[in-house]
Amino acid sequence: MSILDNRPGLAHEVEQVAEVAGYLWQKGWAERNGGNITVNVTEHVDDAIRAMPAISEPRAIGFTLPNLKGCYFYCKGTNKRMRDLARWPMENGSVIRILDDCAHYEIIADNPVAPTSELPSHLAVHNYLIGKGSDYKASVHTHPIELVAMSHCKKFLEKDVATRLLWSMIPETKAFCPRGLGIIPYKLPSSNDLAEATIKELGDYDVTLWEKHGVFAVDTDVMAAFDQIDVLNKSALIYIAAKNMGFEPDGMSDEQMAEMTTAFNLPK
Ligand code: 13P
Ligand code: ZN
Repeated sequence: MSILDNRPGLAHEVEQVAEVAGYLWQKGWAERNGGNITVNVTEHVDDAIRAMPAISEPRAIGFTLPNLKGCYFYCKGTNKRMRDLARWPMENGSVIRILDDCAHYEIIADNPVAPTSELPSHLAVHNYLIGKGSDYKASVHTHPIELVAMSHCKKFLEKDVATRLLWSMIPETKAFCPRGLGIIPYKLPSSNDLAEATIKELGDYDVTLWEKHGVFAVDTDVMAAFDQIDVLNKSALIYIAAKNMGFEPDGMSDEQMAEMTTAFNLPK
């Protein structure tokens, strides 16, 4: 028996996560256990799920997150491989319930797979999104090679320098990642500091670059969060291809950017 049986809505969410996990592996962004995904699945929870007993002891989140009262999340398991999750999502991830104190969670299904070590960041972000009335339900952390490489250069860590460069490589990038790429100075992986810094940047950006580590993106669902990372990394690849051909790419001109911003009704 699985929590997904006879629950097509919930099963669809988990299938989408598995599909994206496969893409992350194919792209070379998910070495070993690299990266993690969580999805707020509370809208798919019924009374039978609410009555399900825990299959783990209560564990501390590390924060008190009042907006998560009564929420449920599908989470990638810590130390689990994306390439395995792609085929067996309920063996490499689990569904957790936030307890009423909003500071602890317990695993409820299908297996006692401990959630990702980046849970503080993921849950703090979901708490933030709910607080601002957002319809975003998914968060994706991954290690895209070219974007991480860019984060090793001080110039690209200045506010909006990388965003402007990436937007100017191909018109679609601003169209499909209109809020750009926020920069988060290096912080210890899995730390509460990293979580707090990430929330701050999400006020202005849907995708953030964790210096010398990876990206963290949010969107309505897991596919949309993946797409935003994918278009940004595509631009990084175009930039690098031009550099490898021996020239600095011109980028779209300010006039071309302005024309596109108006035509597609994008934020300035
Ligand atoms: P987990 O295996 O705990 O999800 O960690 C992977 C990772 O990318 C940490 O930043
Ligand atoms: Zn990571």
